[in-house]
Amino acid sequence: TPATGLVVAIDGPSGSGKSSTSRGVAVRLGLRYLDTGAMFRAMTWWMLRQGVDVHDAAAVAARVGEPEIVSGTDPSAPTITVDGTDVATAIRGEDVTGAVSPVSVVPEVRARLLQLQRAVIAAAPGGIVVEGRDIGSVVAPDAPVKVYLTADPAARALRRAAEEGGSDVSATQESLLARDKIDSGRATAPLVMADGAVHIDTTPFTLDEVIGLVVALVEAVEAPA
Ligand code: DC
Repeated sequence: TPATGLVVAIDGPSGSGKSSTSRGVAVRLGLRYLDTGAMFRAMTWWMLRQGVDVHDAAAVAARVGEPEIVSGTDPSAPTITVDGTDVATAIRGEDVTGAVSPVSVVPEVRARLLQLQRAVIAAAPGGIVVEGRDIGSVVAPDAPVKVYLTADPAARALRRAAEEGGSDVSATQESLLARDKIDSGRATAPLVMADGAVHIDTTPFTLDEVIGLVVALVEAVEAPA
């Protein structure tokens, strides 16, 4: 295995509390942070902007090498740019959210982003928290800490609707469940619980409690009893 630092892999469906948990853990432990979902969203944003039909896998595959996607890994102020343009806000728009699943199933997209993700991890020898859907299974299968976060669909929809500034909860829940189905059913790197992952259902816990649970897992690995 290459001489990388500590990798904490955090996977789970949208709205499970992955991003807030991952950032909180990284801040508390002084680690870097990578949001791989933001990279898939950035690729999708670029495809839409270029007028590529996101439902045409061959058209998407032909263009994956063109955008330069750069992720900043400070957990207190994560950034994402495409060809130098800050897209942090644009990638959360409804157009991108509605198109990201078909783009994410294209194997060439996954291969390209996997390459970028591994490069970011290699550039963080002090350790990094990486969140996504396939981190423990594909991106960093040797990660010493793997967490699989879930929450009740209603709890997830409530959180996501609040994040989106009070959008309709039942519509949000429907779109979350529709994306889960695509993310779990795709052939390449589906959302699965990785071998060796610890499952945390966050429904009954506050964010601080979940962060504390993950920090304890990391500390147990760093200082085995
Ligand atoms: O975590 P998020 O909702 O921002 O992710 C957006 C989409 O990106 C999600 O619907 C599936 C895809 N994704 C993926 O396929 N693999 C990852 N490691 C992260 C995200």
